[in-house]
Amino acid sequence: MELDLDAAARCLLEARYVIALTGAGLSVESGIPPFRGPNGLWTKYGEPPMNGYERFLADPRKAWEERLNPQGPMRELWDALARAEPNPGHHALAELEEMGVLQATITQNVDNLHRMAGAVRLLEIHGNATLIRCVQCVARFERDEIDYVQLPPRCPRCGGLLKSDTVSFGEPIPPDVLAGCTVEADRADCMIVAGTSATVYPAAGFPIAIAERGGDLIEVNPYPSDLTAFCRVRLPGPSGEMLPALLERVRALR
Ligand code: APR
Repeated sequence: MELDLDAAARCLLEARYVIALTGAGLSVESGIPPFRGPNGLWTKYGEPPMNGYERFLADPRKAWEERLNPQGPMRELWDALARAEPNPGHHALAELEEMGVLQATITQNVDNLHRMAGAVRLLEIHGNATLIRCVQCVARFERDEIDYVQLPPRCPRCGGLLKSDTVSFGEPIPPDVLAGCTVEADRADCMIVAGTSATVYPAAGFPIAIAERGGDLIEVNPYPSDLTAFCRVRLPGPSGEMLPALLERVRALR
């Protein structure tokens, strides 16, 4: 492990432009279940229908009633999100950003924990559960800025349909976030890939593009993933332990 931490830290310090991609595994130590694997929500309840967005557009009032009174897997997820706090993994990434080693973080997580940990250059590719977004003008609002008496609620700016900022299955990634992710991934020659099974696109495509350009991937995951074969270094443990250890090694070698 010592050698891997050294190798990972040297990759970060020798790279020209480092970014991170994170997934549900990063928030497991904050009490939020992952989606796949042994304790995954989808493993337990089954994958949700892939046409979530179509169903939202077909009956937005019903979708909002379900959103405001979630059942089954969504109940478990929203309850865990409400209680969660950032863990040492989130804080280590925020500190690497503050040190100028990490340039940006692309997260698939909707849990707001990176922001709470102080991340600045953050791209939430699947949205943020504390925000509401207009499907027409893409304006975003804090949850409590919106009045839910009339369902579906309407955009205060353009009158468009409002939905949770979280990206539903079958929904296109909002163009502003996707553009930002693409810019960062195109610039990067090194990526920390923490807590993701790397099975959902377009997010999973970014590390592969970096590896195919000859860039370095550093995987932080207790279990192998679809990306392991592309990785320069693997830190096979919980991100709440591996990322602080990596941060310390970077400090020591800098
Ligand atoms: N630390 C680091 N990684 C962990 C930890 C931990 N403590 N515990 C589990 N993992 C790893 C698992 O081995 C797995 O590879 O985290 C990964 C979680 O994978 P998924 O549950 O598939 O989550 P993710 O990759 O984020 O899913 C992508 O799928 O369902 C959609 O929109 C949802 O954003 C999500 C997307």
